[in-house]
Amino acid sequence: MKSKKILIAGNWKMNHGPKDTEVFFETFQKHWDALSDELKMSVQKKEVEICLILPFVSLPKALELSKNLPITIAAQNVHWEKKGAFTGEISGPMLLEMGIDTVLIGHSERRTHFGETDPIVKKKAKSLLEQGFRVIVCIGETHTERLDNQTEAVLKKQLHALFGAGDLTASPQKLVLAYEPIWAIGTGLTATPTQAEDAHRIIGANISQDLPVLYGGSVTPENFKSLLECPSVDGGLIGGASLKPENLVEFIKIAVPG
Ligand code: PGA
Repeated sequence: MKSKKILIAGNWKMNHGPKDTEVFFETFQKHWDALSDELKMSVQKKEVEICLILPFVSLPKALELSKNLPITIAAQNVHWEKKGAFTGEISGPMLLEMGIDTVLIGHSERRTHFGETDPIVKKKAKSLLEQGFRVIVCIGETHTERLDNQTEAVLKKQLHALFGAGDLTASPQKLVLAYEPIWAIGTGLTATPTQAEDAHRIIGANISQDLPVLYGGSVTPENFKSLLECPSVDGGLIGGASLKPENLVEFIKIAVPG
């Protein structure tokens, strides 16, 4: 496998409260301790980075239990304003105060169920980057759009909404894109490596910065290797399969070059 920096980002969605988080980390720690020094070193040197994106209420437990593990703990959502009358929302400064500096923005479930539009996603990305966060932004087409051969047009539109005004710039360390075809999320229908590579190339061709692009949508330990072999795939945004510590260890083994 070509040597590149790989990001394994596990999106737990609305799963694993504090108790389940504790169980997850206890089991993961055992698996981690049993890994070879070579694998551990690769993660410690951040050739392979592990990031777990958790529900807000599970963040404190995860931060406590990952203290001695090379795992980035991240939030699944955040408001664009720093404070104010936004009942039920969480702000960037609140997350920073806890020690969280990575956030997921614009997941299709937030777009579909909670009315997050391209302009909202842009507002969040811009504000959070200005506040010093690392931001992972999701984009991707629906099944109908793919069948209508609209994939390229949809990706271009989403990228234009983010970058078109020219006021969103960030280093590859701060801004990560995640291509998540909506038809592949939670369906078991993974994009083929060719479909993923094609979409990632479209994304690369339509942004002026060289940013990492993750693939997401029914990633499993069985298909991760073939997706990572795509030259333009820099890692995975993994939902269901990231809930099991055993899987996380498998993902690490697959991602470590060698
Ligand atoms: P999935 O979810 O791996 O369960 O398909 C991916 C995601 O929505 O980030």
